[in-house]
Amino acid sequence: MDISLKVNQKTNIVLFASGGGSNVLRICQYFENNSKIQVAALFCNKSNAGVMDRVKPFGIPTFLFSKTQLESGEVLIKLKSIAPKLIVLAGFLLKLPQQIVSQFRRKIINIHPSLLPKFGGKGMYGIHVHQAVKNKGDTSTGMTIHYVDEQYDSGDIIFQKSVDIAPTDTPEDIAQKVLKLEHYYYASVIHALIEDLPYDW
Ligand code: GRF
Repeated sequence: MDISLKVNQKTNIVLFASGGGSNVLRICQYFENNSKIQVAALFCNKSNAGVMDRVKPFGIPTFLFSKTQLESGEVLIKLKSIAPKLIVLAGFLLKLPQQIVSQFRRKIINIHPSLLPKFGGKGMYGIHVHQAVKNKGDTSTGMTIHYVDEQYDSGDIIFQKSVDIAPTDTPEDIAQKVLKLEHYYYASVIHALIEDLPYDW
């Protein structure tokens, strides 16, 4: 065995995304020069997703897959070959199959653009979340980082941050405020989880 290879091996993070990928970009930037932790791959289910371009400058391998490949076990096999310490969902819109969730229990996290359990569940994604917050007349909202279990947005909560909503804020304004929080905290929380550090900022 090549011992030097083993010594130099980094802790792997795998990212899953379906959309624009602003969080993915932020996470890639955060870990770019980390000597111990690396983004090992981006898993994406949409060939035209903006996120595919986001990772190019970082040389991060991408794995494009269909819903069928996700559900047939092909994605699980690929994941096992990478052996990630953490699987990070960042705007990933498909439900992970039970076999992946159970094999990576408490090793999969997601970010949701509301203060769960409020405004979570099926159909609660993107602007729908912020529209619902606005309709309800809430004066604050926020973001939640949580473990992934078999249901949508229902796993144990790891970290939440809130932000005030002005009466004049549109759903788009609210979305911007929440995304800013996400960009500020997600990578640091990932880092803290991997290194087993406190994250009560
Ligand atoms: C974020 O708002 C996140 O909370 C949700 O999906 C959105 C992804 O945005 N899960 P981006 O693709 O990272 O820009």
